[in-house]
Amino acid sequence: MSQELLEKKNRLIPRGVYNTNSVFVERAEGALIWGKDGRRYIDFAGAIGSLNVGHSNPRVVEAVKRQAEKFVGSCFHTAMHEPYLQVVEKLLSLYPGDFPKKGFLVNSGAEAVENAVKIARHFTSRPNILVFEHAFHGRTLLTLAMTSKVMPYKKGFGPFPTGIYRLPYPYCYRCPFSLSYSDCGLRCASYIEDFFVTHVDPQEVAAVVIEPVIGEGGFVIPPREYMVKLREITEKYGILLVADEVQAGFCRTGKFFSIENFGVVPDIITIAKSMAGGLPLAAVLGRAEVMDHPQVGGLGGTFGGNPVSCAAAVAAIDFALEENLCERAVEIGDKVLKRFSAWKERFPFVGDVRGLGAMAAFEVVKVGSKDPDKETTSRIVQMAYERGLLLISAGVYSNVIRVLMPLVIREEELEEGLSILEEVLEEV
Ligand SMILES: Cc1ncc(COP(=O)(O)O)c(C=O)c1O
Repeated sequence: MSQELLEKKNRLIPRGVYNTNSVFVERAEGALIWGKDGRRYIDFAGAIGSLNVGHSNPRVVEAVKRQAEKFVGSCFHTAMHEPYLQVVEKLLSLYPGDFPKKGFLVNSGAEAVENAVKIARHFTSRPNILVFEHAFHGRTLLTLAMTSKVMPYKKGFGPFPTGIYRLPYPYCYRCPFSLSYSDCGLRCASYIEDFFVTHVDPQEVAAVVIEPVIGEGGFVIPPREYMVKLREITEKYGILLVADEVQAGFCRTGKFFSIENFGVVPDIITIAKSMAGGLPLAAVLGRAEVMDHPQVGGLGGTFGGNPVSCAAAVAAIDFALEENLCERAVEIGDKVLKRFSAWKERFPFVGDVRGLGAMAAFEVVKVGSKDPDKETTSRIVQMAYERGLLLISAGVYSNVIRVLMPLVIREEELEEGLSILEEVLEEV
C-alpha cells in the first residue's frame, strides 16, 4: 500500500516538493501517527512546528465540525464573520506592550512576512529591509530574498526582489566574528552601526525582520542583551522591529511569543504554523498606528481568515492557555536538553547543544572539529524513521537535529522517542 502510494506520488508530484520520510498518514492523535504502512510513529517533527496542540486535538476537531456545519467559506472582504475577530482579539491580548494594537489574517507564514514588509515600507516610506544570516522567512520570492540558504531554497529561483540587506546573526557557537561570548563585547550588535556606514543608510531602512530564535537555520538562540541592543538601535533610527514568530511562537519556547523571553517589544509580529491547530492560518499583528497606515484595500486576500481555520485557531489558542502549554514546553525542554547534554559528553560527533523551552537541538559535527556533518545528520533522520521516530534536521549546513514534537506529548512517548534517538546515535 505504502509502496504503491509512493510510486503514485513520484509519478504525480514534482520532486521539488520534498519529503523527509516515506510516511503516508492513516490517522494521527497527539504526538503519534499511524501510517498506511501499518506502523506507529512518534512525531518529533510536528509538521515543522504546526502541531503544538497535537494531531487531531479534540477541541480543534470539535470546533472545526461546529463551524463547518454553519458555513465553511466566507471571504472576509465580502461577508465578515465573528471567528476572524475572535482570533485577532485573542492574539492581540497576548502581544506584549501596553499600547493599541491591530492585526489581520492571512494563509501562511510567508504571506504574513510579506505583509509585514509591505506595512513597514508603507508606514516609514523607506524602501529597505534588514534580515539575518541563517534566516528562513518562506518560499515566495520576497521571503526567499530574505532567506539565507541557497540549497535547496534559493538556487535557480532568482532574481529576487531588491532592498534586502543581511546582518550577521548572534550565533555564538559559530560566531561570525570568531569571538566568544561574553568576552566579545557583543560585537555583532555594535557591528550594526558599522553596517550603517558601509552598507545602507539607516534612514532608508523600514524594518529589521528577525526570528527571535532561528528556526530552519538551526534553532539558534541569541544572547538576551543582543535583542535589547537591537531594539535600542531600531528605536534610535526609527526602524520598525518585526519579530517573525512563525516557528518559535505559540508556546514553543516557553512563552506564547518567543520574543517575550528577551523582554523586548516588537512593532510587528508574524505568527502562523501552530496557531490553528494544524489548519492553514497566519496573522500579522502590530502597533495600531503602523497597521492602520496602508490604504483601504491595501491588505488582505481571498482566503485569509477562513472561518473554519479561525474556529480551529480559537480552540487551539484557548487550549494552549487553559492547558498551560507554555509551561509544558519548559518541562519538555528541560528533559530533552538533559538528554542532549548527556549525549554531548558521550558522542564526539554531538557538537553544540542548545534550547529555549521545547525548541531544542544539537549540531552534528565531524569528530574533533566544529565542521558540520550533513551526511551523518541525514543518516540519523533516516535511521530514526526506520525505528518509528519522525525527525527533521535544520541549519544552513543541514547538520542540526531539532525537535518540534507536539507539546501534548505523553511522558512515555517522549521517553520512547528519546530512547530511539539514543539508540540511533549509538549505532551511527
Ligand atoms: C520563521 C519562519 N518564517 C516563515 C516561514 C514560512 O512559513 P510558511 O511555510 O507557512 O509559508 C517559516 C516556515 O518554516 C518559518 O520558520
